[in-house]
Amino acid sequence: MKVLIVGSGGREHAIAWKVAQSPKVDKIYCAPGNAGIAQVAECVPIGAMEFEKLAAFAKEKEIDLTVIGMDDPLVGGIVDVFEEKGLRVFGPRKNAAILEGSKAFSKNLMKKYNIPTAAYETFTSPEDAVAYLETAKMPIVLKADGLALGKGVLICQNLEEAKAGVKELMLDKKFGAAGNEIVIEEFMTGREVSVLSFVDGDTIRIMSSAQDHKRAKDNDEGLNTGGMGNFSPSPFYTKEIDAFCQKHIYQATVDAMKAEGRPFKGVIFFGLMLTADGPKVLEYNARFGDPEAQVVLPRLENDIVDVFEACIDGKLGEMELKFDNEKATVCVILASDGYPLHYEKGFPIEGLEAFEGKEDYYVFHSGTKFDEQGRIVTNGGRVLGVTATGATLKEARAKAYEATEWISFQNKYKRNDIAASVMEL
Ligand code: AMP
Ligand code: GLY
Repeated sequence: MKVLIVGSGGREHAIAWKVAQSPKVDKIYCAPGNAGIAQVAECVPIGAMEFEKLAAFAKEKEIDLTVIGMDDPLVGGIVDVFEEKGLRVFGPRKNAAILEGSKAFSKNLMKKYNIPTAAYETFTSPEDAVAYLETAKMPIVLKADGLALGKGVLICQNLEEAKAGVKELMLDKKFGAAGNEIVIEEFMTGREVSVLSFVDGDTIRIMSSAQDHKRAKDNDEGLNTGGMGNFSPSPFYTKEIDAFCQKHIYQATVDAMKAEGRPFKGVIFFGLMLTADGPKVLEYNARFGDPEAQVVLPRLENDIVDVFEACIDGKLGEMELKFDNEKATVCVILASDGYPLHYEKGFPIEGLEAFEGKEDYYVFHSGTKFDEQGRIVTNGGRVLGVTATGATLKEARAKAYEATEWISFQNKYKRNDIAASVMEL
């Protein structure tokens, strides 16, 4: 069969790499893709938001299955466009992708269905937001309602910062229309865990847990990024926590979406905070995480195409997901120095061939392209996800960091403490 993947990051590289292992698949396309994805797929220069062009391409090439990796096209309704044209596609429709697309929607859903999350209020008027803040407990969290590349969340230590945050989001419109409405919520403390799941509208199957490192610098300093590295599984995600989440969060979310007439098919990514009062939902995403996909998919033992098909057909209940739980994975992002603000790109990348034929080592491309001379060059803030599996997190971490040394490019930057906090456990 022929598969089309929509997106261009490390997540889509991991998905394409996994799809390529399926014996059912003889051709993979990726739009727009990148220089790493080009190793396993034919990249086509169509943007992820060009729904009509993508659907026309899928028709023309008789694509059997399209997989949407990114949030923007999902929230924008790409799945509806494909389905209207009779094309098979993996991902939530627009009315379900709102679970990620609107934080106000997701918070209201959790409140209505008693799914544990931080206490909150929503505001469309900056004056009302400020009036509320004047009596609120600090620190406090401000969130733009809409998509903001993971950067629309402000943690404010005092009233002054919170008022400045309201101005930034609602008046200066730093994230555009995403700030027309904001959520103000209680500040929570605890360990963060990401849990990815496959959903077929009714049934939910959890993948392995992971822990992200969102800040740009070591010791969780610096600005929030899309993610600077992560590891899987999280040793903090115990059987007891899993049992609690299965009971109060996962199925409850799927049932709530169904009850609202918005059945969810695709991947739900639960961002959880393990608080002293138990696990609570920080956020939902309607897609694989990036780089969560890079640490979770290498340990998935199923044919991923079978899992995608089961989700589309509502048959996930007939399938068991299998993970290699004997192994752990660590991913260290090699970024362009200056990310997430200003950085240069276009620098040649050396050393990629060192990964060829090495079991347990993976280099997923996030922001790379071919230059006019056919060299692979940097093309984004996050450049590569250097990933390794090992018998333990410690081994996986040592291998991943070893492999980061194989690669060189001008302005290469990485965090040095990915997974460091779990080394003593
Ligand atoms: P989100 O995009 O909602 O996951 O938020 C981005 C990051 O902000 C999270 O990964 C947390 O580190 C932090 N964060 C979000 N909401 C809260 C909260 N209510 N309390 C504490 N930290 C939060
Ligand atoms: N790594 C966080 C995300 O994909 O949203």
